[in-house]
Amino acid sequence: MSASPAPKSIPRIRGEIPLLGSLREFASDRLSFFMRLAREFPDIGAFHVGPARFYFVNSPTMISTVLAGHGEFFAPSTIVRHLKPLFGPNSLLITHGEPHLEQRRMMAPVFQPRRVASLDAGMTELGADTVDGWTQGQILSVPEAMTHLTLRIVGRTLFGVDFKHEASDLSEAVATCMEHAEHLSTSPIHLPMSWNTPRNLRARQALDMLSRRMTEMIAQRRQSGRDSGDLLSMMLAHRDEDGTGMDEEQLRDHCVTLFAAGHETTAVFLAWVWGMLLLNPEVYEKLQHEVDTVLGDRLPTAGDIQRMPYMQQVLKETLRLYPPSHMQGRTVLQDVDIEGYKLRKGDSLLLSFYVLHRNEQFYPEPERFLPERFTPEQEKARPKHAYVPFGNGPNVCIGKYFAMLEANLLMSLMMQRVRFELMPGQHITAEPSLTLQLANFHVRVHRRGGQGDSRTALAS
Ligand code: HEM
Repeated sequence: MSASPAPKSIPRIRGEIPLLGSLREFASDRLSFFMRLAREFPDIGAFHVGPARFYFVNSPTMISTVLAGHGEFFAPSTIVRHLKPLFGPNSLLITHGEPHLEQRRMMAPVFQPRRVASLDAGMTELGADTVDGWTQGQILSVPEAMTHLTLRIVGRTLFGVDFKHEASDLSEAVATCMEHAEHLSTSPIHLPMSWNTPRNLRARQALDMLSRRMTEMIAQRRQSGRDSGDLLSMMLAHRDEDGTGMDEEQLRDHCVTLFAAGHETTAVFLAWVWGMLLLNPEVYEKLQHEVDTVLGDRLPTAGDIQRMPYMQQVLKETLRLYPPSHMQGRTVLQDVDIEGYKLRKGDSLLLSFYVLHRNEQFYPEPERFLPERFTPEQEKARPKHAYVPFGNGPNVCIGKYFAMLEANLLMSLMMQRVRFELMPGQHITAEPSLTLQLANFHVRVHRRGGQGDSRTALAS
């Protein structure tokens, strides 16, 4: 960031409709719209959604600068602020500056790679319990099945609770809140939350339900006095320099944040990995071979990750093409120059990792799914700012090791026990909301080994 005597002017998108701006394109096909913005603006460009003006930051180095400047020059976006009723004022996703750093320092030990690695047995135990419930020939919605799986894992590993029987209600409540925030951020009209419209009622019910469940979970742990060494115990034991612990609101806010951020993104990630495998059979076969050779029938552990290089390439390439957290917003906190463009206090910025990860300068034939892009040599040859599925800077995902461990273990475990066959007529599509969801993704389950080995089933 540097002072520039003659700021460059920021171009505006052509052909916007008066009053609506680019609302129609933004709402109906956001990913294509972002790709169009990237073609028109090599660095940065402005567009409107209704009366709201956004600056689409396209230059990879500018994106990197914006991510790094969080807290000092940039704050969470309006869309994230619409999630404040869900996450609460103390959430990592809502705070910035010193309060944010303080919360991160407190939680950091739980998310250290070594500590996360020790969660492997808990993850595979729950994974096996879920996968063994899938029967030969059963039709599964992959996104739903992955959500169920990751929700149970977050519950058990961070809070010591198995949400097995509440998984659908809880994930639906999170989805309702996210959808509501998304609606508020794009709708030109905002009705107060206290009005009893059907949408507000649904959102309020979902918020109450999540808040109640988290508060109940905290109270039960307090009562038991048990120290399970998990995130919840750590938060309960935390003391500030002056010896005060977290109050109920802080605890609730952190639990809701980690519960929501910790399962939804990983579920979407796993669903996309399956999508990529089914659409690229030769990759599926090669990965299956690695899983079978390295693991055989035994449960995967954290130590197996380094023995499975192809798995790492497949996971990373999936996060490139379909980053679950595909767009980030920021609000400018104070006037700032970036690469000669002047941004003013209050401006809204939009960054698309979906677009960044399709930059031909770093990824030739960007639409092709090519895990080989992530061999150690190829990775080293690319600048770090070309690949940011977990963000960067002070807000870099706190759960990235957790997510990668979980993805490695669950993909290995699922591939050991089942094969998926894409249901005929399904055309998997990306549905961008706050995360990059998938639509039309049902599979038939074929159990591996013993009855109905899927190799035969797929060939028939
Ligand atoms: C594949 C899975 C995941 C992806 C792609 C992902 C992606 C991201 C990204 C891009 C950010 C940065 C947002 C920003 O810059 O504003 C972020 C932040 C965050 N993530 Fe993740 N995440 C994943 C899994 C997880 C998991 C498993 C957890 C917790 C167990 C988690 C908890 C968080 C939290 C609390 C933040 C806010 C951090 C802060 O602002 O300090 N995420 N994530």
